[in-house]
Amino acid sequence: MSMRTTLSIIKADIGAIGGHIAPSPELVEAVRNHVAVHGKDFVIDFNISSTGDDIAILCTHTRGVDDEKVHKMAWDAFTTGTQIAKQQGLYGAGQDLLKDSFSGNVRGMGPAVAEMEFEERPNEPFLMFAADKTDPGAYNLPLYLAFADPMYCPGLMLSPKMKDGFRFVIMDVNHTEGDRVIELNAPDDLYDIAALLRDNQRFVIEGIYSRTTGEQAAAVSTSRLHNIAGKYTGKDDPVMLVRTQNQFPATGEMLAPFSIGHYVAGFMRGSHVGPLMPVPRNSTTSFFDGPPVVSASAFCVQNGRLTSPADAFAHPFWDHIRDHVSQKAIEIRRQGFSGAAMLGLNELEYTGIMEKLDRLETEFQVRDHKSAEAAGG
Ligand code: F6R
Ligand code: MG
Ligand code: MG
Repeated sequence: MSMRTTLSIIKADIGAIGGHIAPSPELVEAVRNHVAVHGKDFVIDFNISSTGDDIAILCTHTRGVDDEKVHKMAWDAFTTGTQIAKQQGLYGAGQDLLKDSFSGNVRGMGPAVAEMEFEERPNEPFLMFAADKTDPGAYNLPLYLAFADPMYCPGLMLSPKMKDGFRFVIMDVNHTEGDRVIELNAPDDLYDIAALLRDNQRFVIEGIYSRTTGEQAAAVSTSRLHNIAGKYTGKDDPVMLVRTQNQFPATGEMLAPFSIGHYVAGFMRGSHVGPLMPVPRNSTTSFFDGPPVVSASAFCVQNGRLTSPADAFAHPFWDHIRDHVSQKAIEIRRQGFSGAAMLGLNELEYTGIMEKLDRLETEFQVRDHKSAEAAGG
């Protein structure tokens, strides 16, 4: 018997050991305890993991997306955790909790959220992705390749269940007054989709739907702390849910594009460009506060009950990819602040450079050629 299940991932950075490296075990335990105790009446199952300095709560329930009770429970888990973070002197305690009190929904309050409600298939495999030291646009390329490009997803040409392609819902995250979205179909609107997705800082895939069955396949956290807080608060460290197999890309088709280790925004001070490294669950960050990392946990869910996670990027294949990504990271770091290695001015997460440029502006002089000539120059 199938049921309507909601998967919710709510994740936040509420403090880390040694800088922005990893949460302490006590902090993770405090969040886990809170969910176990305070979610017990409505959470069917849950799983806690960390990626870099972020803690992700994955939970299943039947209350639908944007549910106040679920969001409040997660918010309270993070505020409870923050007390531990403060006691332990962890760096950036409570960093992502941007508001003082909870008001209905954690969207716009700091934590990243990705949720999906669906009728469970007889077997229901899905992937949970969590990334650190980058922003939601980091998923644009892998999603495009897995859901619209037969070079990466042969299922698009081989499987009759995917022959109609997928509908992409893309958000303009610069529009902060409300959700500004566009719906485009692959493969029909492929060039339009590409035209938007090239700009990872402005246009972010929010959701993807099967055009054959109408079912939702993917949900991405699209919030940008940059836009919420109006100043530097860390990068957005996005999470994503992707249902796989059968009418959706196979798990391996969804994982394949991550072998590129594509360059994304984030890295040190949220202000650089670095390659996205696929890592096991609960990995730390290191080199140059990075590189940007992404973990992938594979689950099956039945009647809201989760299996234990299979750690998709822990397989030895990814060791080779990680070596390659390390090389890409070293290569771009060699040019320091110059050109493509650092983000454009409106993406820099620190204000120091604007202050410098404003001061220098007053010291520039326009050379007067005429008076130089008259003086015999
Ligand atoms: C990146 C990140 C870190 C910090 C850096 C400086 O998202 O969080 O790279 O930006 O460690 O941190 P502060 O300014 O807190 O000393
Ligand atoms: Mg942090
Ligand atoms: Mg983080």
